[in-house]
Amino acid sequence: MAEPARSESAYPVGLRLSGRRVVVLGAGQVAQRRLPALVAAGADVLLISPSATPSVEAMAEAGEFRWERRRYRDGDLDGAWYALISTDDPAANEAASAEAEARRVWAVRSDDADAATAWTPATGRSEGVTVAVLTGRDPRRSAAVRDAVVEGLRDGSLAAPRYRARDTGAGPGSVALVGGGPGDPDLITVRGRRLLAEADVVIADRLGPRDLLDELPPHVEVIDAAKIPYGRFMAQEAINNALVEHARAGKTVVRLKGGDPFVFGRGMEEVQALAEQGIPCTVVPGISSTISVPAAAGIPVTHRGVAHEFTVASGHVAPDDARSLVDWAALAKLRGTLVLLMSVENIGAIAATLIHHGRPAATPVAVVQEGTTAAQRRIDATLATAGERVKAEGIRPPAVIVIGDVVTVGPEPRG
Ligand SMILES: C[S@@+](CC[C@H](N)C(=O)[O-])C[C@H]1O[C@@H](n2cnc3c(N)ncnc32)[C@H](O)[C@@H]1O
Repeated sequence: MAEPARSESAYPVGLRLSGRRVVVLGAGQVAQRRLPALVAAGADVLLISPSATPSVEAMAEAGEFRWERRRYRDGDLDGAWYALISTDDPAANEAASAEAEARRVWAVRSDDADAATAWTPATGRSEGVTVAVLTGRDPRRSAAVRDAVVEGLRDGSLAAPRYRARDTGAGPGSVALVGGGPGDPDLITVRGRRLLAEADVVIADRLGPRDLLDELPPHVEVIDAAKIPYGRFMAQEAINNALVEHARAGKTVVRLKGGDPFVFGRGMEEVQALAEQGIPCTVVPGISSTISVPAAAGIPVTHRGVAHEFTVASGHVAPDDARSLVDWAALAKLRGTLVLLMSVENIGAIAATLIHHGRPAATPVAVVQEGTTAAQRRIDATLATAGERVKAEGIRPPAVIVIGDVVTVGPEPRG
């Protein structure tokens, strides 16, 4: 009978090996690489090999599969659904291949891809997606493509939304409270980026990585929850309601916040509102502007021999305002770094209060507006001059104000 014509292209398929016999011949590097995945797939693995690498031995000792310490012999593939032929004996590989062919058992060969009836793809997994890549005879290329796809899924640059759960209407939607970082789109976390790529609805603040919103596919509903300082704002209650409403409609919702959700971000209020309605919420921490904005402007919040502590405070209400929860007199006594958020409007009064309570008037101050974005701008002053400098330079929120000797330790303090 004529040999069937062999094509370079393979027909991809996912084998469901749970409880099914898989015979592995040989226990060298190839088997060592493949055995964990076979075990993870629940296969009933029988390893036949006179010796094994230490890792394979350890797996066998842990009871992950049965190991017969001997050479291959005819009949070993009886009852197998799939075989991995990778002994160091070409004749044994040849014989096992022939047995596999005769028994109609799909078999991969480590020493002769042409003689094999199956090829192992380069595989990877990310969040329930299995990626398997075959490129004919170029395993390094397969691995490179696999890596690119898995990396894209992990960092969200490749969108892989879940459709099945939505189509069936199974279960409520979900909400992820994602800290987007200070503004530079590269400064969101890998997890945050991936969740953003999977979202149906994104409720975004004005601060944070707004550029990422432009990359979302057209079907994604983007809702602006802008809380513009001292101007128009969307009530927190309305944001909470929107989160609940969209999650109830079965949507995958991302609440994208600037910096970290729990640093002056009202994140916990949103978590609580969702919990009250029985809606699950994942919290993804973000890079807070408190540290990253000074860093982007060349200011370390601590520095050996200069500052052993840094304190973060909000100056959105003036020191003499009854609503203020900040003990400015106590802060004035500290020697370390003071990082102020939401303080542009009140910096004059805050600086005067700090001086009044003992912080030297010559303490260096830096104001960093729109840090990590293309519009980043830094001005330098002292506690004595900060209020008037901020006004004169027309500094607008968002800005982080850093007070302390760390302001001048960097190589290029700008004025
Ligand atoms: C409501 S708070 C939110 C803080 C945010 N959750 C965080 O962890 O960065 C907003 C304040 O953060 C500061 N801020 C946030 N992003 C900033 C940026 N890119 N540049 C300067 N300041 C920023 C400003 O002080 C702004 O008024």
